[in-house]
Amino acid sequence: MTARPAARLTAADAAPAVAAPSQPPPPGVLAELREKAAARLDPVHRDFYEGGAGRETALADNEAAFRRLALLPRVLTGAGPALAAVDLPGAPGVAPVVVAPTAFHRLAHPDGERATARAAAAAGAVMVTSMASTTAVAEVAAAAHSVRPEAPVWFQLYLQPERRVTEVLVRRAEAAGCTALVVTADSPVFGRRPRDDRNGFHDLPPGYAAENMRDLPGGPPGGTRPIAMSPALSWADLRALRAMTELPVLVKGVLHPADARIAVDEGAAGVLVSNHGGRQLDAAPAAVDALPAVADAVAARIAVLLDGGVRSGSDVVTALALGANAVGVGRPVLWGLAAEGEAGVARVLAALREETAHVLTLCGAGNPAGVSRDQVVPRGAAAGLRGLPPSADAVPGGARPGPAAARSRAEAANRTN
Ligand SMILES: Cc1cc2nc3c(=O)[nH]c(=O)nc-3n(C[C@H](O)[C@H](O)[C@H](O)COP(=O)(O)O)c2cc1C
Repeated sequence: MTARPAARLTAADAAPAVAAPSQPPPPGVLAELREKAAARLDPVHRDFYEGGAGRETALADNEAAFRRLALLPRVLTGAGPALAAVDLPGAPGVAPVVVAPTAFHRLAHPDGERATARAAAAAGAVMVTSMASTTAVAEVAAAAHSVRPEAPVWFQLYLQPERRVTEVLVRRAEAAGCTALVVTADSPVFGRRPRDDRNGFHDLPPGYAAENMRDLPGGPPGGTRPIAMSPALSWADLRALRAMTELPVLVKGVLHPADARIAVDEGAAGVLVSNHGGRQLDAAPAAVDALPAVADAVAARIAVLLDGGVRSGSDVVTALALGANAVGVGRPVLWGLAAEGEAGVARVLAALREETAHVLTLCGAGNPAGVSRDQVVPRGAAAGLRGLPPSADAVPGGARPGPAAARSRAEAANRTN
C-alpha cells in the first residue's frame, strides 16, 4: 500500500461537532447477549457491572464518542482480505481485542474466570485477569493453558502500599505463567458509584472471595485481605515493580500525554488509554477522545491499547486508526459470560474479531496497522463537504458564485445523489 499523509486528528477535532445520535446501538450479538445477561443477573450485580462513577458521564461518553466518529475508507488498495492479528507484549499473533480486567466473574456465572479464560484462549485473545478476580490467578491461567498451552494471560495489579504484598502477587502471576503485568494506575482511591451505594453493594456475598488476596503477608492465615488503594503511590513504586520482575509491565488508566511519555521513560512495555469504563473519575474524557494525544506522545515506542465503550468492529478499527495497537473490552465479556457462560464469551470475542477483519477490509486495509488517522473524521464532516462552492478558479470568468448560484448547484447535486 502506498504511504499515506500523516494527517492529524486531535482530541479537539473529535469533539462533538455533531451530537451523538440518541438511538440505541444496532442489534447484534453483543446487544443480544447484553439483554440476555440483564434478564439473568441479580439486579444488584447487574448494577455493579453496568454502573459507573458519579453521574455516569464518562461511562456514557465512552460509547457516544465512537458514534461521533466516522471512518473514511480507502479504495482499490488491493490490500485485503484483512488479517486481524497483532503482536503485543508477551503475546505474539493475538486478536486485536483483549479481555480487559474485570472483577468478580463468578457473580456472572458459576464457572467465572475459568470460563472467560478458556473462551479467550480459544479465540486467540489475551486474557487480562483481574487482581480482584473470584478465582486465583494460577487457576485462571491453568484454564487458559488447558485450551492452548501458549495462550497469553496477563495479570492486572493494583500496586499495594506494602511492597512485600505486591511482590507475593507478582511471584504468583509469574508462577502461573502470566506473560505480562498490567498496573492499574487510575485508582488512587476507589471510585464512587451511586448504583452500588444505593444497593448497599460494597463487598462480595458469602461464598465468594477475591482469591488472589488469600494468604498474603499481613492478612489472616487462610483468609483474604482487602485490596488497598493508595494516593501515595508514585512512579517510584512502578520502578520498584520493574526491579522485582522480568515480565513486561503495562500501565493502565493513562489519559494525559505527559503520563504516557513518563511511562515510556520508565520502561513500561505499553500504556492502556482508559477511564476504567467510567468507574473512577466521572469528569474524565471518553477514552477514544484521549487516544490521539497519547498515541502521539508514545510515538510508536511502546504498545498503546485502549478500552472503554468498544462495542463493534467499527469501534475497534477507529481506535486502531487513531493509534491503538489493540483494544480491550470489559462489559461485553461480562454480558457474554452472564448470558451463556464460556460460549457467550466466545461469541463476543468471535463477533468482534470477525467484524474487525470485515471493517478493516472495507477500509482498504490488509491488517490492523493498515488504517491511519486520516481515515477518522468527525461524523458529519464528510457529508458537510458536499455543496461547498468550488473555488473562484473553477468558475468560468473567475468570479465567485453568489449565494443563489451556490444554492442551485447544491440542489442539483442533491437531486442526482
Ligand atoms: C464490573 C467491572 C469491574 C472492573 N474491574 C476492574 C479491575 O478489577 N481492575 C481494572 O484494572 N479494571 C477494572 N475494570 C475496568 C476495565 O478493565 C475496563 O477498563 C473497562 O471495563 C472498559 O470499558 P468497557 O466496559 O466499556 O469495555 C472493571 C470494569 C467493570 C465494568
